[in-house]
This record gives sequence, C-alpha cells and structure tokens, in this order.
Amino acid sequence: MAVLKIVAPVLIAVLAFYAYTWESFSEEMVRGKRVLVTGSSTGIGEQMAYEFAWMGAHLMLTARNETRLQKVVQNCLKLGAASASYVVSDMSDLASARNVVEETKKVLGGFDLLVLNHVGGKIGFGPYQGDMESVISSMTVNFFSYVQVTVSALSMLQESRGNIIVVSSISGMGRRLEAPQPK
Ligand SMILES: NC(=O)c1ccc[n+]([C@@H]2O[C@H](COP(=O)([O-])OP(=O)(O)OC[C@H]3O[C@@H](n4cnc5c(N)ncnc54)[C@H](OP(=O)(O)O)[C@@H]3O)[C@@H](O)[C@H]2O)c1
Ligand SMILES: *[C@@H]1O[C@H](CO)[C@@H](O)[C@H](O)[C@H]1NC(C)=O
Repeated sequence: MAVLKIVAPVLIAVLAFYAYTWESFSEEMVRGKRVLVTGSSTGIGEQMAYEFAWMGAHLMLTARNETRLQKVVQNCLKLGAASASYVVSDMSDLASARNVVEETKKVLGGFDLLVLNHVGGKIGFGPYQGDMESVISSMTVNFFSYVQVTVSALSMLQESRGNIIVVSSISGMGRRLEAPQPK
C-alpha cells in the first residue's frame, strides 16, 4: 500500500505532464508546413493565418473577396510566412471547393494541415422562413464543402500524415441536441 501511495501520485503527475505537453502547438510543429486556411479573408481565419505566418508556414488562403485576400497575403509575408498565396473560391459551389485543393496541390505540392473555418450561406439568425433554398445554401457552404475539401485533400493528407482542424459552431449545436433529456 505504501508503494501505491508513492507510485500513484508520481504516475498521475507524469500523465498530467504528458497530457499538458502532448500535441500542444509549437513553432517547430508549424515551420515549413503547408497550411490551407479556408475563410481566411477576415475574422478568425485571417487571424489564424497570421499565427501560422509568424510560425513560418507555407500558406494557402481562400475566400470570395480577392481584395481582402491580397491584403492578408501581404500581411502574412510581412509576418514571416515561408510563402503565402491565395485562391478565390465560393464554397456554395462544390466545384470551386475542389479547385481550392487543386490549386494548393499545384502551388504547395500537397498539404500538412487543413484548416476548415469558413462560414456563410443564406441562412440568418432570424426565425426560419420555411424556404429550402436557404437550407441548401447553408448546408453546402457550412457542411458539404467541408466534406468536399476533406475528401479531395485526403490522399495528400495521408501522404504527409497531416492534420485537419475544423472550426465551427453548428457542430456545437449538434452536441447540445444529443444531450440526454432530464428524467
Ligand atoms: N465569431 C464568433 O463569435 C464565432 C463563434 C463560434 C464559432 N465561430 C466559427 O468560427 C469560424 C469563423 O468565424 P468568423 O467569426 O471568423 O466568421 P467571419 O468573420 O464571418 O468570416 C467568415 C469567412 O468565411 C468566408 N466565406 C463566407 N462565405 C463564403 C463562401 N460562400 N465561400 C467561401 N468563403 C466564404 C468569408 O470570406 P468572404 O466573404 O471573402 O468569402 C470569411 O473569410 C466559423 O466556422 C464560425 O462558425 C465563430
Ligand atoms: C471586399 O473587401 C473590400 C475591403 O474590405 C471591400 O471594400 C469590398 O466591398 C469587398 N468586396 C465584396 C465583393 O464584398
């Protein structure tokens, strides 16, 4: 029992340290890596691009607004990105989503990290008006294009043993719906 009293806390401390340091983000993990960030013309995607830039990644940015993308590319280069380019895309069109992956392949030769972050579509925060068009638009931009980009990039991500990051809030809603009902 005495042994357990010593071994258990040590084991817990080691595991806690391991959990704390395991897979934490570091500059070395990102430097020279090929990173695609969707929805990177503004907002959280833009800020993530800057984080990857100062850590020295090769960046591919995408969104609809070309003027903004050009500006973000310039900022990324100033911050120290190994390289930065963009491809204009509209994720409400799955062919356009596929093209983002094709462009990334052409420019960077593959992927190490895929960051799916864009959000859009015709659905608003107001009460649902009962039209299918807005549902289809929202599902295409916020869900199917995520699946499309992932499927198109998968073999390259497997090749590089890369990672996928998904930024969302709709999946958070899904989790809430799955929560057990109080008895
Ligand atoms: N902000 C928050 O408080 C919050 C909270 C929870 C979760 N999130 C999640 O964080 C992520 C980023 O949110 P954010 O607040 O940074 O959003 P945001 O500022 O509205 O940025 C959205 C990005 O998506 C792009 N985009 C919109 N429609 C597009 C389309 N049809 N095709 C291609 N790109 C499109 C926009 O660029 P263009 O207009 O140039 O296309 C922009 O770069 C989202 O997944 C969101 O659900 C945000
Ligand atoms: C793109 O962004 C610029 C700069 O923020 C803005 O002036 C312009 O209206 C935007 N273009 C479109 C088509 O939204």
